[in-house]
Amino acid sequence: MTEAATPKKKIVFSGIQPSGSLTIGNYLGAIKNWVNHQDLYNNVFCIVDMHAITVRQNPADLRRRSLEVAAIYLASGIDPEKSAIFIQSHVPAHAQAAWVLTCNAYMGELSRMTQYKMKTQNKEGEAIEAGLLYYPVLMAADILLYQADYVPVGIDQTQHVELTRDLAIRFNNYYSPTFTVPEVLLMKAGAKIMDLQNPEKKMSKSSDNPNSYIMIMDKPEDIRRKISRAVTDSIGVIKYSDDQPGIQNLINIMSAINGQSPEAIAAQYAAASYKEFKEAVAETIIAELTPVREKVEELMGSGRSELEAILKEGAARADYMAQKTLRKMYKKVGFVPSF
Ligand code: TYM
Repeated sequence: MTEAATPKKKIVFSGIQPSGSLTIGNYLGAIKNWVNHQDLYNNVFCIVDMHAITVRQNPADLRRRSLEVAAIYLASGIDPEKSAIFIQSHVPAHAQAAWVLTCNAYMGELSRMTQYKMKTQNKEGEAIEAGLLYYPVLMAADILLYQADYVPVGIDQTQHVELTRDLAIRFNNYYSPTFTVPEVLLMKAGAKIMDLQNPEKKMSKSSDNPNSYIMIMDKPEDIRRKISRAVTDSIGVIKYSDDQPGIQNLINIMSAINGQSPEAIAAQYAAASYKEFKEAVAETIIAELTPVREKVEELMGSGRSELEAILKEGAARADYMAQKTLRKMYKKVGFVPSF
C-alpha cells in the first residue's frame, strides 16, 4: 500500500553509493546512526546507484552491489515497516528534480566542492566526466524531494548537505517556499573513521590497499589481521589524543560500536599493550559485524525474493512522496501540467 508519511514525525533521508564493498566507515558513520534513530523519524533510505555511475562501473558488479547494499541496510536493523528502502534509479523523480535544480545551481559553487576537487585533482587536460561536477545537485534532489528535515551522514558529506541547503533556500526565495531546508545529523564517534594504514586519511571503500579498511562483509580472520596491522605509533600508552591518530581511530571504532565514551575506553585500556587493545577492538568489531554478514548472505541467497519485494514496496512509497514535491517544482518553474 502506498501512503504518505505520518505528518507528526520529522523526515530523515540518507543514502549510500553501491560503488564498492561497504566499509565499517559507512556502517559507523551512517547506517548505525540510522538504526539507532529509526523510531524517532519517518525514514527514507536509498541505494544511490545513479551517484555510483559518476565513476565507470562494471554493470554486473553494480547490479549485485546495489542489492547487497539493500541487504546490508536490512541486516543492520533497518526495519522496512518504519523505513522506506529503495534503489534510486527506480524512482524517476530523482533525475527529473536534479535537472530543475541544476538550472538553479552555479558552476562556481559546484566546482568548489572538496570532493569534486579531490576526485579531479592531477587530471588537468584529461576528460573529466560532467557527472562528477553535478553529483551534489543529484544529492540535493534526493534530499529535497522527500522534504527531509535531517540527513544523517559522515563528516565527508556535510559540505554537500550545506550546498543542498543553499539550493533549497535559493529556490524557496526565488519562487516561493517549496522545500524544507535540511540539517545534518552527525554521530560523534563514528562520523569520521580513518584509514587503518594512514590514520590521517578517511577510511574509504575506494582505497587501493585492502588493509586500509574493514569491510562489513569481512570474515573474522580478515578483521583480526587488518586490525593487528593497523598503523599506530611508538608512544606505547593508550590515550585518546590527537597526537595518537591511529589509537584514537581504534578507540573511536570501539566507542561507536559499544556506546562507551572514548575517554572511558582509554581509561579501561590504560594499562593494556597495543596488541591487547587491538585484539579487544577486533573482537568488538567481529561481534558487531558477524550477525550482519550472516543475514546479508541469507538475503542474497534464499531470501532474495523477500529482498526484492521490500525494494518494490520501498520504491512505491518513495515514488509517492517524491512525486508530490516534483509536481510542486514543475508548477513553480512554469511547466504545463501533463494532459
Ligand atoms: P558514500 O557512499 O561515500 O558514503 C555513505 C555514507 O558513509 C559515510 N562515510 C563515512 N563515515 C565515517 N567515516 C568514514 N570513513 C566514512 N566513509 C563514508 C558518508 O559520510 C555517508 O554518510 N553522496 C553520498 C551518498 C548520497 C547521499 C544522498 C547521502 C547520495 N545522495 C543524500 C545523504 C543524502 C556518498 O557518496 O556517500
